[in-house]
Amino acid sequence: MPRLPPMHWKLLAIETSCDETAAAVLQVESRSGDEGRDPRVEVLSDVVASQVRDHSPYGGVVPELASRRHLTAILPVIRRALAEASADLGDVRAAAVTAGPGLVGSLLVGIQAAKAIADVLGAPVVGVHHVAGHLLSARLLGPRSPAAPPPFPYVALIASGGHTALYRVDGPERHETLGSTRDDAAGEAFDKVARLLGLAYPGGPAIDRIARGVDPGSLRLPRGLDRKSTLDFSFSGLKTAVAEHLLSLRRPPSAEETARIAAAFQRSVIHTLLRKSLAACAATGVPRLALGGGVAANSALREEATAACAAAGVELFLPDTRACTDNAAMIGLAALPRLLRGENDGPALAARPDWRLESR
Ligand code: KG4
Ligand code: ZN
Repeated sequence: MPRLPPMHWKLLAIETSCDETAAAVLQVESRSGDEGRDPRVEVLSDVVASQVRDHSPYGGVVPELASRRHLTAILPVIRRALAEASADLGDVRAAAVTAGPGLVGSLLVGIQAAKAIADVLGAPVVGVHHVAGHLLSARLLGPRSPAAPPPFPYVALIASGGHTALYRVDGPERHETLGSTRDDAAGEAFDKVARLLGLAYPGGPAIDRIARGVDPGSLRLPRGLDRKSTLDFSFSGLKTAVAEHLLSLRRPPSAEETARIAAAFQRSVIHTLLRKSLAACAATGVPRLALGGGVAANSALREEATAACAAAGVELFLPDTRACTDNAAMIGLAALPRLLRGENDGPALAARPDWRLESR
């Protein structure tokens, strides 16, 4: 039978769940006869406008400020994503948008933009779970991804400001939660400890920077649930231990002490994240690990994950740091199976700020 020519179409994806206004254009190539197989997806553009500077004076994300910033940034960001993809709005055949979880006022801005665009174009729009996007970010083809995307199944560690969990990923829409944090997310712990240390928001990159090459010496901080066989995490004890250590000094720490505390904190977090991730690989018999979420941008975690996975015979998939933090390309990828089935959430698509990712 003669092969039909490939069908190329463009997907506009939008992400505004927290404090990044992001839009991406993906080129999808699906051939008729290829049903059930992965379509080829290329990221043509991936624009992220960060609000870090707006929130940094407050030491964290201010929800109302975030919504106001999304409102003014969203159209220029979408325009830039289209321009960088050399595309016009008329080339877009479908829209995808993060529907939750996240800050409701932030989600609403992206959802309304996606619905309005889809409505004007007569195109479908689908709502995506934010973490479902992170789970697939290692599979994005482009300059920001691993040389080869991880084949299914793989274990994914998603460690961000709002979530820290381990998943077994069996397909674009099939995943099972293996363990998750019982209290703070790893990124939240980075942000809170950075604040205790007087470092700028967001705390993750600040701690990453000052801890680089620093030996924490004899300072030992707790490693939550370390001896337990559970794949769950706990980071709140670690944050309390840093607060108590600072109190015990009875004076502000020197710059060297601050760097040592940051390094000791980071060592504990990395130890826990990697120990549980490798335990998840062993428990599932899946020797492939993909990292995602903002904390996966941490330079020490990336180095240590490389060494630990090599020692354990686990293949590691490390997306580029920009693909680890919030972006819209991953949201587009996660939307694809539903769009390819012809689904459309339409005008009824609503924000789901507390949406839980269910195993399926
Ligand atoms: O995935 P993400 O961009 O947004 C959420 O979905 O939360 O993650 C943001 C989190 C913040 O807590 C930030 O401090 C942390 O990721 N983060 C890092 C680094 N870069 C961002 N944590 C440690 N080291 C980094 N280099
Ligand atoms: Zn995220």
